[in-house]
Amino acid sequence: MKVLGIETSCDETSAAVVDARRGILSNVVLSQIPLHRPYQGVVPELASRAHFKKIAPVIEEACFKARIKKPDAVAFTQGPGLMGSLLVGRVAAETLGRLWKCPVVGVNHLEGHIFAAELEGKVRFPLLALIVSGGHTDLVLSFKPGKYRVLGRTRDDAAGECYDKAAKILGLGYPGGPIIDRLAKTGDKNSILFPRPYLEGSFDFSFSGLKTSLLYYANKRLKRPMNAKIKNSNKPVLSPKETANLCASFQEAICETLARKTVAAAKKFGLRQIVVGGGVSANSRLREILTEQCAQEKIALRLSSPKLCTDNGAMIAQVAIHKLALKIKTPPSKSDPALPFKNWA
Ligand code: KG4
Ligand code: ZN
Repeated sequence: MKVLGIETSCDETSAAVVDARRGILSNVVLSQIPLHRPYQGVVPELASRAHFKKIAPVIEEACFKARIKKPDAVAFTQGPGLMGSLLVGRVAAETLGRLWKCPVVGVNHLEGHIFAAELEGKVRFPLLALIVSGGHTDLVLSFKPGKYRVLGRTRDDAAGECYDKAAKILGLGYPGGPIIDRLAKTGDKNSILFPRPYLEGSFDFSFSGLKTSLLYYANKRLKRPMNAKIKNSNKPVLSPKETANLCASFQEAICETLARKTVAAAKKFGLRQIVVGGGVSANSRLREILTEQCAQEKIALRLSSPKLCTDNGAMIAQVAIHKLALKIKTPPSKSDPALPFKNWA
């Protein structure tokens, strides 16, 4: 069975063909980063317009590269995400499904980030998933595909959002995650002690205080009022050495918090496998800390290769392969077009 997966929930227009037995046949990802860079964040209206322009050629290229005329099913990201962007993917999927007379499957974007790992090897259940992206920081327990229990999530900023806002404060560019990851490699992670928001007794996260600490630190160094707002700057506001130290220390606080809570949750629920997905799971320091801690605790760790960490159509197709096997139906489009998910409570 070959499934066409369409992903348009945020700022990547992506289409992929995945074969249930042979894996990825094509995975075309068109990033909108250059479009949003001047605003240092995703502008929803621009995102949906760009998806609208590119969705047809991206699907065409995915089918061409996979050497197929038509797939056996079409999958699309049903939510969560930006409404206008989601609608572009959904309309494309439903139109093609009618034309090709094949099943159309709506997929939860977060479920996609979990199943991205399966594109590179079997995922075993039960598992604990940490989904860390620009919009989400969720710890999810799952005993079988299709059934999820959210143990904790961010109460304010998502981890990726925190990275992006920090880069904005420091005038480093967009998106902040990969830039801070790179700059942190030359800095001293122990030079500044940023708060670790552990929220003891809960599996929730909170990153907005950390971002504010960074803002205060930068303002103090620049001799400005503590909570002075940062202007959109496209050049670093501090010296290269200080920027590297700040990036390394700031990153350490985020990654230690994510890793400590994730491993604690796995131990509490007796789970022997952790799957990490979402854009922030490409972070080199997070991967390092999790690898160390999971080895110590003898927990199997599944990290995807970086190109499958960020949004892509292949992960959506992979979830659809499971949903089709389990005969899980997609809610009809006459209901809310981007439904919340019953099993994602
Ligand atoms: O999963 P994703 O592509 O889109 C969402 O669903 O949000 O994640 C994008 C996020 C951005 O916030 C970006 O800064 C972050 O992932 N990101 C990283 C890295 N690569 C991407 N964060 C930290 N380190 C990275 N290497
Ligand atoms: Zn995502």
